[in-house]
Amino acid sequence: MADLRIDFAGIKSPNPFWLASAPPTNSGAQIHRAFEAGWGGAVWKTIGAPVLNVSNRYGAWHYGRQRMLAINNIELISDRPIEINLREITELKRTWPDRAVIVSAMVESKPEAWHDIVRQIEDTGADGIELNYGCPHGMSERGMGSAIGQVPEYCEQITRWVMEVASIPVIMKLTPNITNIVLPARAGVAAGANALSLINTINSIVGVDLETLELTPSIGAKGGHGGYAGPAVKPIALNMLASLCTDEIVANSGLPISGMGGITTWQDAAQFLLLGASSLQVCTAVMHYGYRLIEDLCDGLSNWMDAKGFATIADVTGKSLNRVSEFKDLDLSYRAVARIDHDKCIKCNLCYVACNDSAHQCIDLVSPNGEIAAPMAYDVRSNGKQDAIHTRPQPVVRDEDCVGCRLCYNVCPVDDCIEMVELPSGRESVTWSEISQQNSAVTEDWEEMKKYREQVGIHIH
Ligand SMILES: Cc1cc2nc3c(=O)[nH]c(=O)nc-3n(C[C@H](O)[C@H](O)[C@H](O)COP(=O)(O)O)c2cc1C
Ligand code: SF4
Ligand code: SF4
Repeated sequence: MADLRIDFAGIKSPNPFWLASAPPTNSGAQIHRAFEAGWGGAVWKTIGAPVLNVSNRYGAWHYGRQRMLAINNIELISDRPIEINLREITELKRTWPDRAVIVSAMVESKPEAWHDIVRQIEDTGADGIELNYGCPHGMSERGMGSAIGQVPEYCEQITRWVMEVASIPVIMKLTPNITNIVLPARAGVAAGANALSLINTINSIVGVDLETLELTPSIGAKGGHGGYAGPAVKPIALNMLASLCTDEIVANSGLPISGMGGITTWQDAAQFLLLGASSLQVCTAVMHYGYRLIEDLCDGLSNWMDAKGFATIADVTGKSLNRVSEFKDLDLSYRAVARIDHDKCIKCNLCYVACNDSAHQCIDLVSPNGEIAAPMAYDVRSNGKQDAIHTRPQPVVRDEDCVGCRLCYNVCPVDDCIEMVELPSGRESVTWSEISQQNSAVTEDWEEMKKYREQVGIHIH
């Protein structure tokens, strides 16, 4: 059975799953219940400067039948007095010595303020400190949160102040509200942080109510930008994580990275590990399903690790990083085409329409008698009726014209009905970099490109 224990920059926890700093970690009583449910650690809801919250502070993006594909919040850091938070953290750590208790902090950009909060956190017996340079709303307007995280020089300066006094591990949490996530991460490395974490929430307006014309959520008829999180942000988080783990400076620094942003299932968790995370944080999924989610996360991850032969979390961490490539290094001769499994196909024709209107017009509708039907020639009123399904034309891909764009695969509603299969292209493997090196004119001039295509047999239609 896989060993889920981790040692993250010296912070030990029985599994890699920590609650992210957010509403599920607002109080000692809550985290106590979370630890009873099995969570390996918790990052306490950010403590620091005095704040007042508004009510009606979460918006959500529902899509189809999926509730909370993303959440948007205009909540601030902890609005409970700092003394109460510190007392509860002390009690929690005493009760749960084997769990990771990390405290998120955010104060004004003054060395004394940071020195003071770091000392107060250390006095609680907490295992680590997370620096919140990410909150994109409310605090950023006051010069904190993402106002710091977006400026690498500020990240470096404040982290240096923290490192002057900190004796427990310090995790620098990054904001995704920046063009190049690598720059603040490098600043963390330069300042001597012990670890990095990402991503905090993404600036967003989640919607406008078409009845009242107000933003959602609306606070007395007014609203504003808030932080976006949940399943919808996972691809952005994964890309930022991979960017850090493939950056020479960040990767060579050896700083461990705590990954978060949309983790809901064990499959999400495994993907974050494969792209370089060595601890995982979860917020929105817990706000949606509760602390019991931890059972599925641990069971699923552990079963998958057993099936794949991974003994420890460290064995999984970064295993897919060697697959991360730049476009210029991809094989331009690789050829895949779409294959439809006609036994599974329900003849909904979504693939046909997608290919016809948005791809390369290479799916034919073939009638039961073998004739190619004119587009939409069948009786649309029969759509979905079982008795009419045998008489409907079925989609057939013309291999020679398929460019392998994968649009039909993506729109098909039936699992495994369309497969992308590799076919020999008849061309030598070659990358854009290699073409540029061998004959730079090809990559700079359309006429030369045309000649090259003719020479190697690339037909564009
Ligand atoms: C309602 C809400 C409040 C949050 N409050 C904090 C906070 O106080 N400090 C912090 O560092 N991050 C805060 N976050 C960000 C989360 O810690 C996390 O970075 C983000 O939600 C991405 O993870 P997720 O997709 O699992 O939710 C908050 C997120 C939400 C949704
Ligand atoms: S992969 Fe693209 S080009 Fe090929 S059949 Fe599907 S939609 Fe058409
Ligand atoms: S989208 Fe899928 S199910 Fe629908 S017609 Fe195409 S292959 Fe069949």
